Parts: sequence; C-alpha cells; structure tokens
Amino acid sequence: MHSENYSHNVSYAIETSCIGNSESMTQQEFTYFSNLIFQHAGIKLENEKRSMLEMRLYKRLNALKLSSFGEYMRVLQQDASGVELIAFTNQVTTNKTSFFREKRHFHFLRDNIINHPRPEKTFIWSAACSSGEEAFSLAMQCEAIKHEQANFDYRILATDVDTQRLDMCALGEYPNEDREDIPKLFQHQFTQRVPHDDSMFMVADRLKRNIKFRQHNLIHYPEKFGIQFHYIFLRNVLFYFPRSTGEKVVRALVSQLEPGGLFFVGLTESLQHMDVGLELVDVSVYRKPVLGRTADE
Ligand SMILES: C[S@@+](CC[C@H](N)C(=O)[O-])C[C@H]1O[C@@H](n2cnc3c(N)ncnc32)[C@H](O)[C@@H]1O
Repeated sequence: MHSENYSHNVSYAIETSCIGNSESMTQQEFTYFSNLIFQHAGIKLENEKRSMLEMRLYKRLNALKLSSFGEYMRVLQQDASGVELIAFTNQVTTNKTSFFREKRHFHFLRDNIINHPRPEKTFIWSAACSSGEEAFSLAMQCEAIKHEQANFDYRILATDVDTQRLDMCALGEYPNEDREDIPKLFQHQFTQRVPHDDSMFMVADRLKRNIKFRQHNLIHYPEKFGIQFHYIFLRNVLFYFPRSTGEKVVRALVSQLEPGGLFFVGLTESLQHMDVGLELVDVSVYRKPVLGRTADE
C-alpha cells in the first residue's frame, strides 16, 4: 500500500515510545534474526537493514510485552509450535504493492490473451501476492476480456508466505486512496463502498470467485500445484533473495509454466543473468520456449 513508509514511521514513533526502556538490537541479535528469516523465507538482510528490522520487530516486543530483543530471541528459540515464527515472518517481510502496479504488464497480458485465444481455461499465478492488489488487478483485467470474448475463462492462484497479508486478501478491503490506482471504468465495475466504513472500499465478490488465495513459501522448491500455468507473475520479490536462491525459485516456478507461457518479474528486476531457460519478449517479460519454435513465433 502507498502509505507504507509514512505509516511505518508513525508506528515506529508509537512503538518506540511505548517501549521506551527497551535496548536497541545488538549485532549478535541481528545475526540471529537475519539468519532465521533467511532460513525460513530465503530473505537476505544486510547489516544496513538493522534499524528497519528493529522498527518492525518492536511490534512483536509490544504484543508479547517484552522489553528487549534478547528476550524476543529466546522466545523464538523456544517456539516449539512455530506460531511465533509465523508472526516474526509476517513482521519482517516487505509487502509494498498497489493495484495495477507496473501497468505495462497488464496491457501486455491483455494483448497476449486476446491475440492467442486458447480453448481451455487460462491459469495465472500471482506468486508473492502480498495483500492481493496484484491478483485483483489481474482478475479485473480478465473479467474485462471475458466480456469481449465469451469463450475466455480463467483461474488465478495467489500465494504469499505472509499469513497476515493473506487474511487481507480474503477480506478484499482497501483504503479509499488506493482506489485511484484502478482505471476509472474498473472502479465502477469492480469496487464498492464498505458499509459503515467511509474510509475503505471493497472489491466485487465476483472477482474473488476466480481467485484462490493460499500460503506458499517460494523457497519450498519441490511444492507443486499440479497445474501448468499460462502466466506467472513473480514481481518485486526476487531482489530480497540472494542470486542463487532467486535462481532456484525461478526454476521451480518455470517448471510449472506451460511451454509458450509468460513469466513476469518486476520492471526493475531481470533474469538475464540466470540460466532458467526463458527468452526475453518485453521489458521484464519472459517466455518459456516451445520446443521446435523460434523466439518470434
Ligand atoms: C514487495 S511485495 C510484492 C507484491 C507484488 N508481487 C507486487 O509486485 O506488487 C513482496 C512479497 O513477497 C513475499 N515474500 C517474501 N519472501 C517470500 C517467500 N519466501 N515465499 C513467498 N512469498 C514471499 C512478501 O511476503 C511480500 O508480500
């Protein structure tokens, strides 16, 4: 969501004032927390991220009424059920997203679907979907195509490691200011006011019917969905992983992409240095080759 930096700053001020006596994070604690998020989600936190991590973990200290990061480290070390590991992961991930983020990709997707009609259902995967804006934007785009092409049908799988964000996806309610990112026509067709809350809008139920939200950890490489997707969106998450992890993640996803299918990464990301068997077809859009066909077919 747009206001993430601002709200982090405000909440940081609130968290730190609530926890006035807590000590700052030591190097040893930072090493422990950064190793833990790396082992659990593949996310690499460099040393300069220490104050960001402190800011995010103050929330857990507050919730558990702890007064130091050392105490929180011990809670995690004794967390046999894994419940606190989930809360820790939810707190540490970066979830910035928005509706129709990097618009170019939505136009490209639309043109590709229209120009390559397929008789069977179209399957799209929004991997690392955060709070759902990407998946709902894809669903709006697909609903519009369905209106023009009666035979077109689609399903979207939307996954993330962060369970708190997945709860937001299921709710489908967002602050009014985020509505401005949605094209005007789609605002009218696919969004409505939330009863009794003037500050929020919600997405139409018919969008939710074609989307399945599920928790999925990208570094659990062997986990498969038993579907060959036609389009995979893995945008704005690769830069949190070291290159070798990113390459394994992409390979695992490409194995679930139909030959001829498209793979989207963020506009500032690239797969050019990775050996993942994809060919570039547009800015940060790649295609899985079909055996025996050339790149421009
Ligand atoms: C910056 S958001 C990107 C959201 C959306 N794809 C976009 O481009 O707007 C990155 C997301 O990746 C998720 N993420 C980070 N590590 C992950 C992992 N190991 N498995 C699945 N999701 C992960 C985070 O929880 C976060 O929601």
